[in-house]
Amino acid sequence: MISFPRTDLAQQMVPALMGRTLFGDAHNGLFLSGPRRTGKSTFLQSDLKPALEAEGVVVVYTDLWGDTGRDPATVIADAIGRALQPQLGVVARTAKRAGLDKLSLAGWLQVDTSKIGRLDGLTLVDALRALHETAGKPIALIVDEAQHALTSERGEAAMTSLKSARDQLNSRDAVNLMLVMSGSDRDKLMRLVNSSAAPFFGSQVQRMPPLGADFIAYVASVIEAQRPSLAPVDQATLQHAFEAIGHRPQLFMTVLGEVLSPFFGAKESFEHALLGASAERLRKDADQMESDFLGLKPIEQVVLWRMLEQGSRFRPFDAEALRFYGELLAQPVSLSMAQRALESLRQRTPALVWKSARGEYAVQDSAMHRWFEERRKSGTWPPIPHQVLGLGDD
Ligand SMILES: Nc1ncnc2c1ncn2[C@@H]1O[C@H](COP(=O)(O)OP(=O)(O)OP(=O)(O)O)[C@@H](O)[C@H]1O
Ligand SMILES: [Mg+2]
Repeated sequence: MISFPRTDLAQQMVPALMGRTLFGDAHNGLFLSGPRRTGKSTFLQSDLKPALEAEGVVVVYTDLWGDTGRDPATVIADAIGRALQPQLGVVARTAKRAGLDKLSLAGWLQVDTSKIGRLDGLTLVDALRALHETAGKPIALIVDEAQHALTSERGEAAMTSLKSARDQLNSRDAVNLMLVMSGSDRDKLMRLVNSSAAPFFGSQVQRMPPLGADFIAYVASVIEAQRPSLAPVDQATLQHAFEAIGHRPQLFMTVLGEVLSPFFGAKESFEHALLGASAERLRKDADQMESDFLGLKPIEQVVLWRMLEQGSRFRPFDAEALRFYGELLAQPVSLSMAQRALESLRQRTPALVWKSARGEYAVQDSAMHRWFEERRKSGTWPPIPHQVLGLGDD
């Protein structure tokens, strides 16, 4: 298994987060979006976290998708509690030596870290302040799949608390709380920043750069070391194959393993076989989406169709939407029918639809938008038109 360290990218982000660069706004919060499986979580945990720690920052990482059964607010509070617990132990030991009354941090000793964020516990703002004061270091909170916070009211309130903690802990001269939020869907992450009611209004969502030419050069060097007969490896073709497969390192390595296998039996160079196999992989993704779509009930298909077409303008139950469904199905569609269809799209595993606490809907996987646009452009939408007519077995 290959794990390519992205030290340079981490080294660029650290000073920006710590407010040491003249330009940019990362010290107010860094929002990073990137497609699924492109290495976001790996970067945050294996590159950014250690780079921040090397600068003396206490890093709390939490993945809101890690446990989708729990409220995102609880997941965030627990992660802060887990980081705070050992610090309280240190304070307690120091207090024992120095005498409790002489210790300025003694007030935090009463904190019950299992109750953070609850009515009878410390607020998130105070918990982050406790962590900062007891550790005597700046804190970075990394929230992976942060858009998931918006699926519950408590999660949304937690985001507002984090913003408030940032404003209270940071001053013009010192950045004591850094926030990094990542997500696989730019549109959903945008909801954290793009309206005046959004918790981080005014911040920008940036694209997480995909693995680049340095990753490809590294992979090529490993191939050349293990299979000297293949040197020199054609890196430009490798790069094209990596792009064709959507910059997804795991899939890329799998396909690479296939074409390098002694059983593959290609007549062309392995680089060209890789390019062909990568394009084939992308076609398989599209086939999967097509069969998922065709497996839906007709009413679910037209609701999803409307969502794909409208993007962030999607309003599932307005008169225009109901007319759209009705025209495609050639029979009237009521509000409750549309509601049931949306709910079943949301309840499927894996879910096809995402719903925020405010009742906004979006497709779960933004790759579906690209699939839709491409089929639209090539005139092959909808997948099989005659199957969309009639309400079928609903
Ligand atoms: N720098 C890297 N070098 C090699 N492989 C990597 C690298 N980064 C990620 N990968 C591999 O790619 C796969 C996806 O990585 P990761 O889970 O970090 O992506 P992600 O963007 O967070 O995905 P998701 O959208 O599912 O959350 C993993 O199998 C991981 O091992
Ligand atoms: Mg991830």
